[in-house]
Amino acid sequence: MKITVIGGTGLIGSQLVSRLRGAGHEVVASSLSTGVDLLTGAGLDQALKGADTVVNVTNSPTFDEASPDFFRTTMGHLLAAGERAGVRHQVILSIVGVDQVPQLDYYRAKTLQEELLRQGPTAYSIVRATQFFEFMDAVISWAADDHTVRLPSTPVQPIAAADVVAALADVATAPPRGGTLDVAGPDVLALDALGRLTLSARDDGRSVVTDEEAGMFAAVDGDVLVAGPDARIAPTRYEDWLSAPR
Ligand SMILES: NC(=O)c1ccc[n+]([C@@H]2O[C@H](COP(=O)([O-])OP(=O)(O)OC[C@H]3O[C@@H](n4cnc5c(N)ncnc54)[C@H](OP(=O)(O)O)[C@@H]3O)[C@@H](O)[C@H]2O)c1
Repeated sequence: MKITVIGGTGLIGSQLVSRLRGAGHEVVASSLSTGVDLLTGAGLDQALKGADTVVNVTNSPTFDEASPDFFRTTMGHLLAAGERAGVRHQVILSIVGVDQVPQLDYYRAKTLQEELLRQGPTAYSIVRATQFFEFMDAVISWAADDHTVRLPSTPVQPIAAADVVAALADVATAPPRGGTLDVAGPDVLALDALGRLTLSARDDGRSVVTDEEAGMFAAVDGDVLVAGPDARIAPTRYEDWLSAPR
């Protein structure tokens, strides 16, 4: 199968390209730095030539009010180019519970990306993942100083990027779902507890202060970021991932 991965240099995209190639697929890895700009459409027709499936794992440069325009424009170009190239399956990576957090610009942007895909001309699949383990450092840095890290107790169910990649590879090489697959890690934890685990594993002497107003996830109501009963539950536990050599 010929598969084009747009965002093929990113955290998820680079691992997905390796995994699909390892399984014997012909894979084109495209992104801004390889000369394919989804914001302008430059290089897209060449990147999609002969592709059966396209997996879009790009990300917007910011999470703010500019992000809806990024996902609107990039999905517009990708869907049009996919139709021109005769692509049979378009896949995107979204976020568990994304449509339940309209108060966050970035979540509204990703919801818009999903809607554009659903309304588009091509058969599709949406993989919704929970927060990546690899994302925790960024989350910790949002409301931190030299002594404390402030985090709300929002329930999350984080997942290793490698486990997201495994699910995406399975979906990309199967027939279009015409719907969504949720993927999540094996454990539900409060974000402040996750922060404590992270700092302790890294021998970081700062303490986590529970602050229901701190950072982006303070805006999240209840357990909307936790996967439902139909989700694919990934095997890797956060504590094992933290202690594994890298
Ligand atoms: N972080 C989380 O916890 C989480 C959870 C669920 C879902 N997700 C979703 O996962 C997706 C992938 O995230 P990631 O962390 O792997 O992203 P990432 O590492 O930031 O990689 C982003 C990729 O997008 C490419 N890109 C950016 N602008 C582009 C443009 N205009 N044209 C073409 N390519 C462009 C980059 O290319 P260059 O490297 O060439 O610049 C890079 O390959 C995102 O859509 C995100 O919403 C994330």
